[in-house]
Amino acid sequence: MGRAEAAAMILGLALALLWTALPGGAAPSPPRLRLSFQELQAQHGLRTFRLARTCCYEALLVDEERGRLFVGAENHVASLSLDNISKRAKKLAWPAPVEWREECNWAGKDIGTECMNFVKLLHSYNRTHLLACGTGAFHPTCAFVEVGHRLEDPVLRLDPRRLEDGKGKSPYDPRHRAASVLVGEELYSGVAADLMGRDFTIFRSLGRRPSLRTEPHDSRWLNEPKFIKVFWIPESENPDDDKIYFFFRESAVETAPALGRLSVSRVGQICRNDVGGQRSLVNKWTTFLKARLVCSVPGVEGDTHFDQLQDVFLLSSRDRWTPLLYAVFSTSSGVFQGSAVCVYSMSDVRRAFLGPFAHKEGPMHQWVAYQGRVPYPRPGMCPSRTFGTFSSTKDFPDDVIQFARNHPLMYNPILPVGGRPLFLQVGAGYTFTQVVADRVAAADGHYDVLFIGTDAGTVLKVISVPKGGRPNAEGLLLEELHVFEDSAAVTSMQISSKRHQLYVASRSAVAQIPLYRCAAHGRACSECCLARDPYCAWDGATCTRFQPSAKRRFRRQDIKNGDPRTLCSGDSSQPALLERKVFGVEGGSTFLECEPRSLQAHVEWTFQRAGEGTSTPVPAVERAERTARGLLLRGLQRGDSGAYLCAAVEQGFSQPLRRLVLHVLSAAQAERLARTEDASLVPPSPKLWYRDFLQLVEPGGGGASSLRMCRPQPAPRPAPSESQRKGRNRRTNAPEPRAERGPRSAAHW
Ligand SMILES: *[C@@H]1O[C@H](CO)[C@@H](O)[C@H](O)[C@H]1NC(C)=O
Ligand SMILES: *[C@@H]1O[C@H](CO)[C@@H](O)[C@H](O)[C@H]1NC(C)=O
Repeated sequence: MGRAEAAAMILGLALALLWTALPGGAAPSPPRLRLSFQELQAQHGLRTFRLARTCCYEALLVDEERGRLFVGAENHVASLSLDNISKRAKKLAWPAPVEWREECNWAGKDIGTECMNFVKLLHSYNRTHLLACGTGAFHPTCAFVEVGHRLEDPVLRLDPRRLEDGKGKSPYDPRHRAASVLVGEELYSGVAADLMGRDFTIFRSLGRRPSLRTEPHDSRWLNEPKFIKVFWIPESENPDDDKIYFFFRESAVETAPALGRLSVSRVGQICRNDVGGQRSLVNKWTTFLKARLVCSVPGVEGDTHFDQLQDVFLLSSRDRWTPLLYAVFSTSSGVFQGSAVCVYSMSDVRRAFLGPFAHKEGPMHQWVAYQGRVPYPRPGMCPSRTFGTFSSTKDFPDDVIQFARNHPLMYNPILPVGGRPLFLQVGAGYTFTQVVADRVAAADGHYDVLFIGTDAGTVLKVISVPKGGRPNAEGLLLEELHVFEDSAAVTSMQISSKRHQLYVASRSAVAQIPLYRCAAHGRACSECCLARDPYCAWDGATCTRFQPSAKRRFRRQDIKNGDPRTLCSGDSSQPALLERKVFGVEGGSTFLECEPRSLQAHVEWTFQRAGEGTSTPVPAVERAERTARGLLLRGLQRGDSGAYLCAAVEQGFSQPLRRLVLHVLSAAQAERLARTEDASLVPPSPKLWYRDFLQLVEPGGGGASSLRMCRPQPAPRPAPSESQRKGRNRRTNAPEPRAERGPRSAAHW
C-alpha cells in the first residue's frame, strides 16, 4: 500500500468513524438565532470601519485605558474609538519605501498585492508608544507609534527616521501570520526569519539582553511550523518561574513515515529567564520543550482528529496561575470539513512537560517514552535560586544542555478537559478561524461564552453549559451573526469584557458588535428563558441585560436548564399570538405561514374544524406539506375550513405562535366575490374580510405574508368556466399552478 493510499484509507476511516461517533450524526447544528448583516446594522448596533483602497485588517489591539482600538492593515495603522469604531477614526499611512517595493518586485513578488507594508502586529509598548511591525514589502520593519497618554485628544504619529529591523518579528510574506507577545520590553515571536520562509524560529528580541532563538533547521525542534499565538503565563509569585507558551501546528516528526506528512498541533514552552548555554546552545533556548495538543472525538475503532490548530484564547480564572485555554481546530482532511473547540487546563499543559520525554529508539526508530536517566536540573525547568543552585541557564551542566537539544518533544499529549471537544461542527459549509471567550456571571453560576469567527465572515456565539457534572460541558450554539457585508474570513478578534463589545477583522473591514442583544430573543418570558443567554434575563416585562446585583424577582434566568415551565409560571407574558384569516378556493392550495424565531424549534400544527370543539394534530399527508416556513395545503376541500394552530416546540416546551382561520370557498363564491366591489355583500366583519379577500385575488398586494396565496389549481369539479378563468387572469399575476402530485384522497383528515 502506497503512502497516498494509506493516508486515504485513514481519512476514509476517520470520516466513517466521525459520522457514527458524533452525537446527532454529521448534521451541523443550526444556531438558535441567525442574524443578517442588515438586521444587525439596523437593530443591534453593528458598526463597521474600513479605509478607502486598503485591505487586510489583521492586527487588532484593544486599549481600555485610552478607550481606543488600534488596527493594523495594508500600509496603515488606525486608531478608533472603542465605543464606536465608526466615529472619530484617526489613520496613519505607513507604506513601504519605493526601493523596498522595487527590490520586492525584482524578487518576483507581485507589486500590487505583495510588495506593500502589511501591518501584522501591534503591542502596547509604554505609556506613550505602541510597537508596530509590518512586512515592509518583504523587508520586515517595526516602528514605535506615538499614541499619547491623554484620552481627550488621541495622537497617532510615527517617526519614519526611527524604524527598527523587523526581521524575526514580522513575517516577510503577507500570507503568513505573526504570533508574538511583548513582555516588559522584550518581544517573543514565532515567525519565519528569512525571505524564503524556511527558517522558522522562536525568537526573543528588543530589550537589553542578547537575542535568543531556536536551533536553526533542526526538524526535531520545529518542523515547518505555523505559529498561532504566544502567551506569557506566570506560574507563581516568583518571576524566575515565568514561562512563555507558543501555540503552533507543524508536520509531525513522530508518526510512521508510511502515513505521509501529518499535521499536529503543539504547545511549546520556554523560560523567561533563559539566556542560552555557555559552551553549546549559545544564544539558543536551553529550556524549549513542546508537547502535542490533542483535540479528537474518541471512537471505538480510533479517534477522529481535529489536527489543525487555528486559534487559542486565554481565559483568566479565579486561580490566576491556571487560566483556561479555549482553542479552535479544523481538520487537514480533504474528505470532510469540520471544526471543533477544545478546552485545556494549564495544569494539564504543565503536567505534560513534567512527564516522560519522547525518544526515538530501536531498529524501527519508534518513538517511545524515554526510560533512561534524566539529567539534573531537569530540562525545561527554569533556573531559580528558590529550588536549586542554578541561577542562570549558562550554569547548566553540559549533559543537561545536550539532553535538551536532543529531546525537545514530550511523550504524553495534552488532552482536552472532558476528553473530547466542547463543541464541533461538521459539514456546516465553514470552518472556525478565531476564538475569544468571556466569563459571565449568571443567576445560577458562571458561564463561559465563546465567540467563534469563521472563514465565512460570521461569528458564532456558543455557551458552555455543564453536562453531567463539571468539568464536563457541552457547547450550545446561540447565535450566528453575519457581521460583514461580504463573506471574507475572520482574521482577528478582540473582546472588551468591560465595554461588552466584540471587534472582528477580515480582509475587507473591521466590525464591532455588542456581546448580547437580549431583545432579539423575543417578547415573552418563555422566549427569554429558552434562549439560555447568560447575558440576558426576564425582568418581568422584557428580555433584558442580566444584572447580578438586581433584586431576585427581577432576574428570571435559568441557563442550566432553560425550562420556562418552572421559571415563567405565573408570568402572563405570552409570545405574540398572531391571529389571521386566510382564504382558499376549493381545489386550490394555500400556504399557512409560520416560522419560529428559533431555528432550533420544530413546529407542530393542530387543526380545529369549523364548528367543532376539539383539536387534532394535522397529519403528515401528501396534501399537507410541511416546509421550513409553514404548511402548504393542496387540493383544498370545504371540510378543510377551520382554525390551524401553529406552535413552536423547543426543549420539550410548546408555545403557540399563530392561529390561522381558513375559509375554503367554492369557485363560484370566489368568483362572485372577486368581481363585486360592494362591501355590503361581505358577511361578519366586513372591512377586514374584504381586505383579506383582495389579498386572495391579488397576491403580493402588500398584505401580511400569512395571506399569501397560491392561485387555485384547475379543480376537477366544478370546472371553472371560461369567464371565471378570464376574471382571475385579469386580476392576478400569480405563478403558474403547481402540478398536483399523488392520489387525491376524498377522505378528510
Ligand atoms: C457611531 O458613530 C457614527 C458616526 O459618527 C454614527 O453615525 C452612529 O450613529 C454611531 N453609532 C452609535 C450606535 O453610537
Ligand atoms: C516609550 O518608548 C519610546 C520608544 O522607545 C520612547 O521614545 C518614549 O520616550 C517612551 N516613553 C516613555 C514614557 O517612556
